[in-house]
Amino acid sequence: MKKNKILVNTNNGSYPILIGMGLINNLKKILNSYSIKSSKYLIIFDKNIPKKYIKTIKKNIQKKTIFVKFSSSEKNKNQKSVNSILNILLKNNFNRNDCVISIGGGIIGDVSAFASSIFKRGIKFINIPTTLLAQVDSSIGGKTGINTKFGKNLIGSFYQPNLVISDINFLNSLPRREIICGYGEILKHSIIANKKFFTFLSKNIFKIIKLKKNYIQKSIYESCLIKKKIVEKDEREKNLRKLLNFGHTFAHAYEATLGYSKKLNHGEAVILGIISACEFSYKKKILNKKEYKLIQNHVVKLSKSLKLNKFFNKKDINKIIKFMMTDKKNINEKINLVLLKKIGKADHKNFYKITDIQKFTKNQFSNT
Ligand SMILES: NC(=O)c1ccc[n+]([C@@H]2O[C@H](COP(=O)([O-])OP(=O)(O)OC[C@H]3O[C@@H](n4cnc5c(N)ncnc54)[C@H](O)[C@@H]3O)[C@@H](O)[C@H]2O)c1
Repeated sequence: MKKNKILVNTNNGSYPILIGMGLINNLKKILNSYSIKSSKYLIIFDKNIPKKYIKTIKKNIQKKTIFVKFSSSEKNKNQKSVNSILNILLKNNFNRNDCVISIGGGIIGDVSAFASSIFKRGIKFINIPTTLLAQVDSSIGGKTGINTKFGKNLIGSFYQPNLVISDINFLNSLPRREIICGYGEILKHSIIANKKFFTFLSKNIFKIIKLKKNYIQKSIYESCLIKKKIVEKDEREKNLRKLLNFGHTFAHAYEATLGYSKKLNHGEAVILGIISACEFSYKKKILNKKEYKLIQNHVVKLSKSLKLNKFFNKKDINKIIKFMMTDKKNINEKINLVLLKKIGKADHKNFYKITDIQKFTKNQFSNT
């Protein structure tokens, strides 16, 4: 079976995710075959993408396309960046039928998609994800968002792209650290929804991280498929989609506690968050020890240095809890956690008192 295309069906129509090597060489053809006939394009691209790819894109798109370079960081994922994009669109008289293309990781994707969603109440948007994390996760599902000093992704919208083009060749220039981050989201998808896929990952982790063609393509495909199935059932995160936040309540608090420092990027925070969520599930006797250890060992294979005590100490506990309290999913001062029942089955309907989380976090640090 060719694992190269997935159709995501949403309330506002369907869009394809194309997965393959060298797809951008055929960008013109792809845009034509999916009827993206815009007269103007704004391309926002990550400054760390090798120039040769941008040259290829320039050859494959109309001459008057505007190219804007973006420096990705959680600090730039803000209102100021959205305003800059909106100003370019306004200045150049873009209309709804024109198109914004994001070429980069999850940060550019989230910022560009959010700007697209509010420009004249919605302009066409194409996502060309260039990090593993963006290819397996952030480019799918239509969540857009920016950060504020109060926390991560607190301003945003649901806005589905018209097309996602995941060209695996982009990953060749991606630092190993970023590959590991993307792998964390692949792992998350397997843990919450598909034990068979988790077993495949356990067997092939090193081949995947080394980007061996068939292994990386299968991993991206399966990961997108899991997310597609969940998003289609619950586009607006009223229920089932909350499962995709597995590990993220912890992760967002870790990132915010460090002020979105590059010391701990989003994907690494997610991996730490996954382990915390598994540990919490185990301590609450929801997950058995054997499966908890399987996941823990998997993460150790991935990276020996990803440990909470490398980034935080006891004096950070209150800050971590404070940020967990601002999570969007919380209700009535209780913290909502997605927990794991077994590999392949997660549950999002868990609410805990702040004192419970405090006790757990304090214990995590006393064990280290
Ligand atoms: N919208 C969603 O559903 C969703 C889901 C998950 C994560 N996110 C968001 O995604 C963001 C993280 O995304 P990310 O991990 O892709 O981070 P990122 O966009 O910062 O990219 C990571 C790093 O890789 C560099 N880079 C990008 N492509 C490259 C390439 N091909 N070669 C070399 N370097 C390259 C970037 O410059 C950056 O330094 C977070 O802000 C997170 O909140 C959103």
